[in-house]
Amino acid sequence: MEEKLKEEVFTAISDYVRQHLSAAPGCHDFDHTMRVLKNSLRLQEIEQAGDLDVIRLAALLHDIARPEEMESAGKICHAEAGAEITGDILRRFGVTSPSLIHHVTEAVRRHRYRGKSAPRTIEEKIIYDADKLDSLGYVGIGRAFHFAGQIGARLHNTESEAVGSPAYSHEDSAYREYLVKLRHVPDKMLTNAGRELAVELAERMHLFFVQLNQEVFGD
Ligand SMILES: [Fe+2]
Ligand SMILES: [Fe+2]
Repeated sequence: MEEKLKEEVFTAISDYVRQHLSAAPGCHDFDHTMRVLKNSLRLQEIEQAGDLDVIRLAALLHDIARPEEMESAGKICHAEAGAEITGDILRRFGVTSPSLIHHVTEAVRRHRYRGKSAPRTIEEKIIYDADKLDSLGYVGIGRAFHFAGQIGARLHNTESEAVGSPAYSHEDSAYREYLVKLRHVPDKMLTNAGRELAVELAERMHLFFVQLNQEVFGD
C-alpha cells in the first residue's frame, strides 16, 4: 500500500467504531473488536506476513455492521453489510488509497467465511483466524455463557441434552456451543499460527468442561 496509515486517522476510526458498537451485546461489542485486533497483530507477527495497515483497519471494522444485523433479526449479514460501508467510513476519515480501501473491504466481507466469501489473501485469513480465536479459551468460555444467558438457556446440562437439542432452545447451553461448534474450530483455521493457538485454547475449554461435569454430575 503506497499510503502509510496515520496514527491519528486510526485513533479517529477507532473512536467511531467504539461509538457505533456501544449498544452491541457483550459477545460482539467493542471489547471483542479490540481482542480481535490484538489477536490479528499476534498472528501477523508469528506468520511474519500481511500488511499491517490492512490488518489493523480490517480488525477494527470487521463487525461494524453487527448492530444492523441485530436490528434486522439476522436478515442482514453483518459481513456483507459491513463491507458495503467500509469504503465510505475510511474515506470519511481521510483514507484515500484505493488499494488499501479495497483490501480492508474484502477482509471485512470475508471474515465470516459464508458461501462464496472464502478468505483468500493472508490479511483476510489472519482476520478470519483472529476472530475465531476470540471464541476459544477462557474468553470463549465467558462468551459462551454470556450468550446462553442472553437467550435464557440453562447454565449447564448433560452431553446428550446439549447435542440432542436445537440452537436457541432452553438446552442451548455454553456446553452445547462447545460440543457442537467450538471444539471443531481448530480444524477450521486458515493460518498455521492460528491453528496452533486454537489447539491450545480449545484444550483449555476441554479441561474446563471436564471439571465442570465433575463438579455438577460427579460423585
Ligand atoms: Fe463477525
Ligand atoms: Fe467478530
